[in-house]
This record gives sequence, C-alpha cells and structure tokens, in this order.
Amino acid sequence: MPHSINGDVKIAVLGAAGGIGQSLSLLLKTQLTRELPNHRHAQLALYDVNADAVRGVAADLSHIDTGVTVTGYEGDRIGEALEGTDIVLIPAGVPRKPGMTREDLLVVNAKIVKSIGSSIAQHCDLNKVFILLISNPINSLVPVLVKELESKSQGTQVERRVLGLTKLDSVRASAFLHEVTIKHGLKPKSNTLDDVPVVGGHSGETIVPLFSQAPNGNRLSQDALEALVQRVQFGGDEVVRAKNGAGSATLCMAHAAYTVAASFIPLITGQKRSISGTFYVALKDAQGQPINSSAKRLLGSINDLPYFAVPLEITSQGVDELDTSVLERMTKYERERLLAPCLGKLEGGIRNGLSL
Ligand code: NAD
Ligand code: LMR
Repeated sequence: MPHSINGDVKIAVLGAAGGIGQSLSLLLKTQLTRELPNHRHAQLALYDVNADAVRGVAADLSHIDTGVTVTGYEGDRIGEALEGTDIVLIPAGVPRKPGMTREDLLVVNAKIVKSIGSSIAQHCDLNKVFILLISNPINSLVPVLVKELESKSQGTQVERRVLGLTKLDSVRASAFLHEVTIKHGLKPKSNTLDDVPVVGGHSGETIVPLFSQAPNGNRLSQDALEALVQRVQFGGDEVVRAKNGAGSATLCMAHAAYTVAASFIPLITGQKRSISGTFYVALKDAQGQPINSSAKRLLGSINDLPYFAVPLEITSQGVDELDTSVLERMTKYERERLLAPCLGKLEGGIRNGLSL
C-alpha cells in the first residue's frame, strides 16, 4: 500500500542546514521527480535547530524549477516536519575534526539522536515510516535510536524500520577499485563500476569490504588488495585530514544518501513489493529474539552481535530477508583478517551505544 498523505511522497531531512543536509536536500529537490511515477508529487520537509540557516536553505532551494515542494521548519516545529513522512533522513549531529575518532562523537550525538527518536515516536506512523540514520558513530547510534524508539512504541516492530547508512563505504570501495584497476593498467571488465559488498559496521576495522565478490576485485595482487581495504576502512579520515578542521565528508555522503533515498521510491509508491540494499540494522527485536530466520542464521556466524551491516531486502514491513550468502562466500583472508577483528570492535561500539 502507498503510504503518503494525499498520495504525495514526503521526505524529511533532519539536520538539513548542515554540510550533508544542504547537499542532500539539493539532490532531492533537483533529482527526485525523475524517480516518481506519473501524477505523484514529492514534499521535502527540511528541519534544523539552526533556524536562520534552515529558513535560508529552504527559501534558496524553493527557487529551483522542479515540482518538489520544499518547506523549512526550525526549533520546536519538528512535529510539523515529521507529520506524514515516508522517509526520515537524519544527518543531524556533530562531525569529526582531525585527531578525533567517530566514537568521540558518541555522547553529544546520542543526545541529539535520542531527542529526534522521541519526536519520531510522537509524530510519525511507526508502521509506515523508514528511518535512515547518517549521524556518527553509526555503530553505536543505531542501537541508541532503536532503543529510544522501542521504549516509546511498544507493540510495533520499529527495529525493522531503522536503517544505519553504510552506503558510503560501498561507494568508496567501488570508486577506489576503479582507480586502482586503471592505475595497474588493467582494462575494467565493463563501463559500469563494480558493486562491492561491504559488511560489518561503519568505522575503521569494522568496515569489511569483500572485493573478492566484485568482478575486478579478484584480479589484484594481495598487496594491492590490502592497500585498497585499508583505504576503504579509513576513507573517512582521508577527507577529515583534507578538510583540516572544516568537517568530514559531506558531498560523497549526500550522493550516497540520495541514492539510497531514491531507491525507496518504488516501495513507497507501491510499484515494487520489495527493494534491496546494504544497511546496518538490528538483528534482534525488543524481546531479544532474532527478527527472522535469516537473522538467526547470520547471528550464528557473527558471534551473536545484535547489529550488523549486510545486504538485505526491505518490504513495506521493514527489514525482511538478509542475504547471508555474501558471508558464506568470503575468502580465508576476508574471514580471518577482516571479519574477525571487525566483530571484536563492533561488539564494543554496540555495547557503548546500549549503555547510554
Ligand atoms: P554539520 O555540522 O555540517 O551539520 C549538522 C547539522 O545538524 C547542523 O546544521 C546542525 O545545526 C544540525 N543539528 C544539530 N542538532 C540537531 C537537532 N537536534 N535536530 C536537527 N538538526 C540538528 O555536519 P555534517 O558534516 O553534515 O555531518 C553530520 C553527521 O553525519 C556527523 O555526525 C557526521 O559524522 C556524520 N556522517 C556520517 C556519514 C556516514 O557514512 N554515515 C558520512 C559523513 C558524515
Ligand atoms: C565518513 O566515513 O566519511 C564519515 O563517517 C565521516 C567521518 O567522520 O569519517
């Protein structure tokens, strides 16, 4: 069933006046109409605590000649922004500076995410909304947000609707693999860049790129492969260093988030029964039970960690079948040198989030 008010698709961006928020809102305003079926209209609700900035962004974007309606909301107007939304995108929060880890952002961003979670529980229909979290540290904040929503919404399966965005890791893996393929004088196997499955979490060694499952990935020497893995795992630091105190990745993240948001349109408008993508999600429900049989299978191979990023299907009910085959197809190197350290680090990140 389509979900939106009056047949419109409504997308809210919380933190819309920030580096990611502005670029993402620009992409949504300029590109979204081409994703919509005929006679469907999109509303963009831009919310930020920075009142002047968000009013400015909304006014500026509303002069662009597409049919997407843009409205700005500030301060205590978050309820109006959230009312009737199909997708909530959350880039609200503080970014890193050089010398900081994502985990250093946990306490301050957890406060922001909890308060946003409480507003979502109050103003959104938790049986229909999809909640896409961008703010860092993703590994800990998805558990924070899920816990907050579960505490405010007994009887729903809200944990199946919260999706941590790790798309930037596969975007980087794909871009860097292409660069290396060309640099090593190899002819790419096609004009389309490889999709590289990336599982685990979104921070350093918790990021596990599976290059062996990409057409151009298994043509590299072990040294080149290890350098590539390292670059994907620490790609965020590359941008933080280059910006030298002016924040972290915004433009590539906006591209990644737009791609993900656009992929939901066929599901929201009822054109498709399910869509697929890789997200960092809860594998257990509020009672501590696996959300489904594929989650139960996955838990068995990841030391029972309750959150993990893996390719999955999403239906109107939220997270559905998880694609555990990518883990089954891992090479010995990926299993022993990448997955094993990932699990240890990810366990700490989840524990930190759940302790708040
Ligand atoms: P930014 O500082 O440019 O923007 C953040 C915005 O959030 C600001 O406009 C601020 O006013 C707003 N904000 C703060 N508290 C808010 C609240 N309670 N409600 C609504 N808005 C609020 O930061 P940025 O560069 O856009 O990054 C945002 C977050 O995204 C950071 O935590 C960063 O680490 C993270 N990030 C994640 C990924 C990823 O792959 N998941 C990639 C890049 C950045
Ligand atoms: C990234 O991967 O670029 C983001 O998570 C931002 C960061 O802090 O590195």
